[in-house]
Amino acid sequence: MTLKKITTEAVANKRVLLKVDYNIPTKTDRHNKVVTDDTRLRVTIPTLEFLIKNKAKIILTSHFGRPSGQIVEALRMDPIAKQLEKILGKKIQKINVPAGPEAETAVAQLQPGEILMLENSRFHPGEKKNDLNFAKDLAKLADIYVNDAFSSAHRAHSTVVGITKYLPAYAGFALAEEVEMLTNLTQKPKRPFVAIVGGAKISDKVEAIRNLSKVADVVLVGGGVANNFLKAEGLDVFHSYLEDKPADTKKEHISFVAVAEELIKDTKTEKMMLHGYIPLPKIIYPSDVVAADDMDHPKEKKIIDLSDGTDDERRKTWMYLDIGPKTERLFRDIILEAQTIFWNGPMGVFEQPDFASGTKAIATAIAKSSAQTIIGGGDTISAVHHLGLADRFDYISAAGGAALEFLGGKVLPGLEPLLRK
Ligand code: 3PG
Repeated sequence: MTLKKITTEAVANKRVLLKVDYNIPTKTDRHNKVVTDDTRLRVTIPTLEFLIKNKAKIILTSHFGRPSGQIVEALRMDPIAKQLEKILGKKIQKINVPAGPEAETAVAQLQPGEILMLENSRFHPGEKKNDLNFAKDLAKLADIYVNDAFSSAHRAHSTVVGITKYLPAYAGFALAEEVEMLTNLTQKPKRPFVAIVGGAKISDKVEAIRNLSKVADVVLVGGGVANNFLKAEGLDVFHSYLEDKPADTKKEHISFVAVAEELIKDTKTEKMMLHGYIPLPKIIYPSDVVAADDMDHPKEKKIIDLSDGTDDERRKTWMYLDIGPKTERLFRDIILEAQTIFWNGPMGVFEQPDFASGTKAIATAIAKSSAQTIIGGGDTISAVHHLGLADRFDYISAAGGAALEFLGGKVLPGLEPLLRK
């Protein structure tokens, strides 16, 4: 995949509409909304600095949350503009509209190297429908369009796709780096390549697991996702989280337990050799779990060996909330053999100390490993920050869903218009 990257000729002295993904975590602190993780702002700094150096007039467009085409006061871009000002040490002019005459007036007053931030693009009812009238209004603001938002590239929205019908489109540096990283991962990984997938929702991850099971030597599955595989094996998971009916209505008809069963069957004959002599199945899910009677206020907690077949009546009220110690040891041994590691999704409910051990063990083993390590996904990033390990990985991807869809083998709608033909 070769992208049309920004060049000096393309951007110098131009009005540049820069699509960024500043959909980031914030909290309310003494009535003010403040940014709690600015990773997605920082990844766009190289592109912003390049545009400033080349005297472009920069117009930023981003979505923030899911306001569904309406103005939601709590989802205005103001706190984000303030944080970006701090990082860049440069004034950002913020306006209260996502496009239209007021934005055109503000752009007309912009000087070379100055930055204007538009209001949340999802306040416009057309954004999510990829409405071309909204795209046309946005196009009036600029001479060229630059997309530096890999993490939104899976959304066919006006600021991602529609706009490219009206302006010459280029890839920013952060987007191009992310594409290169993930492409190398699937095309020429150093082996053994170990992929680790966890988290709660299998519906977002199943295509990535399928594709990773073709390119990786082994796929380790934990978290709520693993419950689908346990159930597919014929084990009862009792009250454990099982996303068999996803929120995305397009996926409602899919039984993810059946999909897990199919994946187990399809990969049955493939084996990775651990320590050179122990054959392992391609997809490995927990053989023991940490179970409890309640996720938030557990009164009872127990390690259940899923291979021992004990008929413990009390299990029936329990939830599986972390991988068990036997699984932790196996996953750690496999991780330490790897030359390439991709990790997305925690192994359990890591926010609760009672169920954090599996995620901690995996994060620590990856941090220790000499393999090339790539991690991604909001919860995974928050887990490694929480554990103080965030600087121990080669690449932290700011993209969650987009990276998984890319690894699932899809050409993302937002990347298509940026391809060098
Ligand atoms: C993300 O956070 O993954 C992107 O910003 C996309 O957000 P969305 O899932 O609300 O489209």
